[in-house]
Amino acid sequence: MRPVVLRTPRLRLDLPVPDDAELVTRYCQDPIFERWLTTPWPYTRTDADAFLGTYVPSGWRSESELTWAIRRAEAAPLLGVVSVRETQREIGFWMGSEHRGAGFMSEAVTAVAEWVLGGGIPGSSTVFWRAVEGNVGSAKVARAAGFRRITPENPTVPTRDGETTLPAWYAVRERVADPRAEASWSDLLEVAR
Ligand SMILES: CC(C)(COP(=O)(O)OP(=O)(O)OC[C@H]1O[C@@H](n2cnc3c(N)ncnc32)[C@H](O)[C@@H]1OP(=O)(O)O)[C@@H](O)C(=O)NCCC(=O)NCCS
Repeated sequence: MRPVVLRTPRLRLDLPVPDDAELVTRYCQDPIFERWLTTPWPYTRTDADAFLGTYVPSGWRSESELTWAIRRAEAAPLLGVVSVRETQREIGFWMGSEHRGAGFMSEAVTAVAEWVLGGGIPGSSTVFWRAVEGNVGSAKVARAAGFRRITPENPTVPTRDGETTLPAWYAVRERVADPRAEASWSDLLEVAR
């Protein structure tokens, strides 16, 4: 598939490119990435170059993982990244620390989920989200993007080295918004919006 550009009221989602390497390297030093993500740790410039030069373009070509840069405008600095994996249509994301709390990620994740479910990936009727248990920031994004919490039999995510798993939270977003979605988060995110 050729990379697709998505637009939201405040954002442009487009292809992450090799020129984004410096920012990606800096953002991925964030200590919370060690805990919540499976990005390499410690994270080096070589990791960013491989991600942007090889992993991202080959993911689009093979449709194994579609990755977008989150920007305010064309050619503007990268703020964060959102992606969807073909298997399970699983969404993943991170935002550079200085750009958090402005609702950007909720806006970006909503746009990607709606694009997937609206025919961007033909035949997709669901998009999944999962996060290491305790990742409240990520859960709030999933809630804001209309995902509904589900509890599969063995809710886990693999660790960075792939050798073990951690307990996880799961949620799903369907084509037609589920009216129970908002309430499904109440035990986890007690404080109502
Ligand atoms: C999770 C993350 C992407 C949120 O990015 P963001 O740009 O702040 O998201 P938004 O501005 O759309 O915020 C959505 C909500 O989450 C809240 N939030 C964001 N980060 C938070 C955190 N670390 N702890 C608690 N709440 C958080 C915001 O206040 C907002 O709350 P509201 O819905 O009550 O208004 C960002 O914190 C991040 O990159 N975390 C590290 C990587 C990560 O965990 N990725 C997800 C892996 S599953």
